[in-house]
Amino acid sequence: MDNIKIFDTTLRDGEQSPGASMTIPEKVKIARKLDLLGVDIIEAGFAVASNGDFEAVKEIAGVAQNSTICSLARTVEKDIETAARAIENAKKRRIHTFIATSPIHMDLKLKMAPDEVIKRAVKAVEFAKSFTDDVEFSCEDATRSEMGFLKDILSAVVEAGATTLNMPDTVGYATPNQYGSFIKELVEHVGNKAILSVHCHNDLGLAVANSLSAVENGARQIECTINGLGERAGNAALEEIVMALKTRSDYYNGLDTNIKTKEIYGTSRLVATVCGIEPQPNKAIVGKNAFSHESGIHQDGVLKNAITYEIMKPSDVGIENNTLTLGKLSGSHAFKDKLESLGYVLDEEQFKEAFEKFKDLADKKKEIYDDDIRALANSQDEIEKVYELVKLQISDCSEGVPTAAVTIKKEAMEYTDAAIGDGTIDAIFKVIDRVSGFNGHLKDYKVKAVTEGKDALARVFIKVEFEEGLAVMGHGLHIDTMIASANAYIDSLNNYLQIKQKD
Ligand code: KIV
Ligand code: ZN
Repeated sequence: MDNIKIFDTTLRDGEQSPGASMTIPEKVKIARKLDLLGVDIIEAGFAVASNGDFEAVKEIAGVAQNSTICSLARTVEKDIETAARAIENAKKRRIHTFIATSPIHMDLKLKMAPDEVIKRAVKAVEFAKSFTDDVEFSCEDATRSEMGFLKDILSAVVEAGATTLNMPDTVGYATPNQYGSFIKELVEHVGNKAILSVHCHNDLGLAVANSLSAVENGARQIECTINGLGERAGNAALEEIVMALKTRSDYYNGLDTNIKTKEIYGTSRLVATVCGIEPQPNKAIVGKNAFSHESGIHQDGVLKNAITYEIMKPSDVGIENNTLTLGKLSGSHAFKDKLESLGYVLDEEQFKEAFEKFKDLADKKKEIYDDDIRALANSQDEIEKVYELVKLQISDCSEGVPTAAVTIKKEAMEYTDAAIGDGTIDAIFKVIDRVSGFNGHLKDYKVKAVTEGKDALARVFIKVEFEEGLAVMGHGLHIDTMIASANAYIDSLNNYLQIKQKD
């Protein structure tokens, strides 16, 4: 039985989704989860892009237990050398170097002749090889490149030592049958000298179909992202590819992946929470409606036997019916067991904090569901908090002036002040600015109920610019939306301070 390697690029191409930037601790948290999920290769970033990217790749390299850690690099020495330094502590490491191969890109963007492109690619692969045996080469815009040229460049980079050859559909132009034949011809050309990989974008909504067609035709690595995040319309969604291969293993001749499918839902929730981008409700596998049956005929069928209308069990992807599990009387042991069964391993400090939040929540909320526990665990910060909210008092009347008073702690000292605003949220953010001495500009604000019911936890996601051109995200979680908003604002301020400190 053949194995398909899953190469996850949520932290690199996924982060290129408009509005999806992540802090270093958030990337590390996601990388840990991807490692647990069983992805073969984690593309942790583009190390040369910024200090932040370099640090993120380096930290991830230090924590991954099983996955190979990879950094992207152009076919430029400085990129490759920086990528190599960033991944040097990883147990298994890969350098992924790329150059465009289509006439459109070579003429209009690179302004390079095809033979120069081949020389550059060969030099880059040879240089990458001096740092690691595992070198991937990508032909950017492969699907608009000439077949003859692709064969020439692939032969040359294989000779130079490339072990994986990636054929991105960079602009999402391919269609399934055509991409399948394209991959088949290249697999036949390369033989068993290297693994053929695919990387499909979703501009025509065909990324998953194209990836699966490639696999039918001999590709043995698929590049994809959680929730299909990625540049423009996104990349092929990991969860859809993995579940298609598993559910239709009869059709795919038993082709399998190393993904622990029960970790899929938890990973999807974490990525959605961190990026503030929820999968659409009808998104396959992880959307809110993916396993819910509305019509009476369907409900009746499912009650008689789920197989009537369900081709997969929700539990296969880690959705345990969002069960009501813990309550006010549950102790730390039960809480820890629950966290572990949902795939979370928190350190002692994080666990203590999460348990306090859980007890606090259990006092206010009658029913606590798996999604509440996930939200609590996902909201555990791994950064030092410079500022912390101690107290918030608001007065808002339709006729009066919205006012907020806060007490904020900084280095064991408490500071209190009050401000008025155009609305309550505005007043809260203004008073935090006043107390902290920073002046944030709100760029995005979203609030979502974690579960159903009037007493649901509110999760607030915001983006604030404390400095022009540097939008920083923040999250807040609380049963009270105003407190969640204040926490989210303070979180973005703490994230900003951390970025500045690293710089
Ligand atoms: O879409 C693309 O071509 C890419 C490459 C850099 C692999 O993301
Ligand atoms: Zn891409």
